[in-house]
Amino acid sequence: MTIYLDHNATTPIASGVLDAMLPFLREEFGNPSSSHALGRRAKDAIENARAQVAALIGARSDEIVFTSGGTEASNMAIRGTMLANADKRTLVTSTIEHPATDEPCNWLARRGYTVHRIGARPDGCIELAEGRRLIGTDTGLVTLIHAQNETGVLQPVSDVAAMAHDHGAPLHIDAAQSVGKIAIDVEALGVDLLSIAGHKLYAPKGVGALYVRRGRTLEPVLRGAGQESGRRPGTENVPYIVGLGEACRLAALRLRERGTQTIAALASDLYARLQAEIPGIELVGNGSERLPNTLNVLFPRASGRKVLEACPDVIASTGSACHADHESASAVLRACGIAEDKALGAVRLSLGFHTTADDVKLAATALANAWRRVTA
Ligand SMILES: Cc1ncc(COP(=O)(O)O)c(C=O)c1O
Repeated sequence: MTIYLDHNATTPIASGVLDAMLPFLREEFGNPSSSHALGRRAKDAIENARAQVAALIGARSDEIVFTSGGTEASNMAIRGTMLANADKRTLVTSTIEHPATDEPCNWLARRGYTVHRIGARPDGCIELAEGRRLIGTDTGLVTLIHAQNETGVLQPVSDVAAMAHDHGAPLHIDAAQSVGKIAIDVEALGVDLLSIAGHKLYAPKGVGALYVRRGRTLEPVLRGAGQESGRRPGTENVPYIVGLGEACRLAALRLRERGTQTIAALASDLYARLQAEIPGIELVGNGSERLPNTLNVLFPRASGRKVLEACPDVIASTGSACHADHESASAVLRACGIAEDKALGAVRLSLGFHTTADDVKLAATALANAWRRVTA
């Protein structure tokens, strides 16, 4: 029996989500731009999904644009904002971003834009004081990860929003990992743009959304017909959009009814069990505000990759990269100032809402045994 602890990589499709999608993969195949009844039903389904996504993050329906996923949403936010405002050619981001943010920033840098990156600390959090220094009147956009995908550490979004707004700059956050896992409200956070990735919250891969605060203009990344209010042309992926909407509705319900305590308690139990068996194990961002489902643990005197290879019962991931002749530690952990040899021991364990107390017990035992075998 394998225990899946890689929910930050992707989640299974929730059965209610699949049920909601199926009619739109079968008989409800209309084009939402068609004016006949079949088309109108497809259009209504998209608008219903838009309201469901908006409700999860405290937005208004007309502030949601559907995309092919988190990567497209962040490209649209970053490139779209910078290309829409020719006067400001500087953007500020951090050293602990996902490639979905890093690469559009690099793309802009190759075209003459200036990109500043705020550094991070060993507790997994960005250096706010550095942010204060780097954000200025020339800043066209600040783009920041909300919950870091490897460490689960939540970044001080509201503080950064205040700094950005003081200088007239909008703030985009990559919330691919946080939406659906914790309560999110765009007004409370003060963000102007926010990326969502469906497959991190029990919707299928290949669908996502961008929240765009009313009044913000974006240069579209794709050019074509006028779908999504001209922001994202192309015939809409109706079944997947319906799936994302339902996933957001279910996430809102789960957060309202169950909160995050159950999953947080399971995650702390998992770490306590690992601590009891593995002297010297460390938790990245211990003490920082983190996602309730994510543990990035540093196995002492062992490569996290080797521990997982020796532990076929647990499915999880490491942030390290394998090269022909050596292994290099996660760039994110290194950017936080964690030493290479320590960072090589990293394993990310990310729980989901199907994870049980038994899964946690079995996973802890299996991982501890694997660590003992690797270090023997
Ligand atoms: C923080 C973060 N941003 C963006 C993405 C990309 O999302 P997608 O796979 O939907 O393009 C991911 C997924 O790995 C992620 O973890």
